[in-house]
Amino acid sequence: MSESTKYFLPEDQMPKAWYNLAADLPTPVPPPRHPGTTEIISPDDLAPIFPRAVIEQEMSTERWIDIPEPVREICRLWRPSPLVRARRLEKILDTPAKIFFKNEGVSPAGSHKPNTAVAQAFYNKEEGVKHLSTETGAGQWGSSLAFAGSLFGLEVSVFMVKVSYNQKPYRRALMETYGATCVASPSPQTAAGRAILAAHPDSNGSLGIAISEAVEVAASRDDTKYALGSVLNHVCLHQTVIGQEAMLQMAMAEAEPDVVIACTGGGSNFAGLAFPYVREKIKGRSVRIIGVEPSSCPTLTRGQYAYDFGDTGKLTPLVKMHTLGATFMPPGTHSGGLRYHGMAPMVSHVKELGLMEARSYHQTECFAAAVQFARAEGIVPAPESSHAIRAAIDEALRCKAEGKAETILFNLSGHGHFDMQAYTDYFSGKLQDPEFDDAALAEALTDLPEIKG
Ligand SMILES: Cc1ncc(COP(=O)(O)O)c(C=O)c1O
Repeated sequence: MSESTKYFLPEDQMPKAWYNLAADLPTPVPPPRHPGTTEIISPDDLAPIFPRAVIEQEMSTERWIDIPEPVREICRLWRPSPLVRARRLEKILDTPAKIFFKNEGVSPAGSHKPNTAVAQAFYNKEEGVKHLSTETGAGQWGSSLAFAGSLFGLEVSVFMVKVSYNQKPYRRALMETYGATCVASPSPQTAAGRAILAAHPDSNGSLGIAISEAVEVAASRDDTKYALGSVLNHVCLHQTVIGQEAMLQMAMAEAEPDVVIACTGGGSNFAGLAFPYVREKIKGRSVRIIGVEPSSCPTLTRGQYAYDFGDTGKLTPLVKMHTLGATFMPPGTHSGGLRYHGMAPMVSHVKELGLMEARSYHQTECFAAAVQFARAEGIVPAPESSHAIRAAIDEALRCKAEGKAETILFNLSGHGHFDMQAYTDYFSGKLQDPEFDDAALAEALTDLPEIKG
């Protein structure tokens, strides 16, 4: 086995096509439905909010979809991202396991999100759109779309979940540096925001509410489209550069993962790393694939698999996914990007097919793992990514207990340089581990839409 610590691919080996898992699934993902009629939607239904090329990708079952050269050219600013062997962490854990991670924190905005932001900005620009509206949780997606918008000369408006807006002021400054505007959601700017503020003046906000606000802006302006940072098929698709690169880099390291791990908010960084491995698993390869989520917002582990709205205001199409209910209000933990009531329909389907496992952790045990990782490897992870690290460490400790030299691969979805208040709160003992509220879940699930036909 190779003795190196980092594995770099030359730029010309950056993937030339995205991998679409829809082509290889044994049964198709249930189709999205119209929020009003609950009929299966047509591409025209999505046209007010998404560009045509993106709608085609959303519905495509082609295995490979070419990445346009202007998108590849921009992604070369940071891609291919490094694969790193966490040798120092292995030593500290005293484990026979080999731990590798793909470092997506090296992108300009600090996470995997620019992989799809650049592609979405490109297609919108091609189709004459002038302005993009979006939501953001912790600010990683908003920063990424702001960055991509600046490269293509698009105006970008971001609705940032209020609790994160207050927790992470420098994320807003970063979006403004890229030329975007960022307001706290719920905001008085939209009917959806005003309705929430009237009912709950002190609302912390949620991704579901911020999505309603951004979709409303896109639907009401001719020059504007909406861009989503996770959940939908085209977003998962754009992230598959991660797993494709990882496969080539694991070959350079002369290793094959026994366990593949990523955190799951809406599911896109998980899909990005895991879907190329899910393809192999469908073909018969033995590999465990684990999605990791917060115990306070346990969509895959505790949610119901049902058609639901992607947003609180019930404007988006209905998709079949694991859901905690579109009105579920997750507590204000520091992993803003994982505080979403739903899951990518494709990830949910993969879970239902038994092709992946899911587990959840409380935030303090994730911060403990993040600090251990930072002190071993030097990189301060995003709170979201610390969920994957917790699981990777636990798998490495299992290997130690069982005396097994397995290979573990996880996705470091982003760095935590804008999340230092969260670390300060952790060190001062202020972070709580809110227990998941079964009563709130039951109430939010009573609101699930009834599907006709
Ligand atoms: C660093 C980081 N990791 C993970 C996520 C979760 O999103 P997804 O599940 O789409 O990868 C986010 C979302 O904002 C994020 O910022």
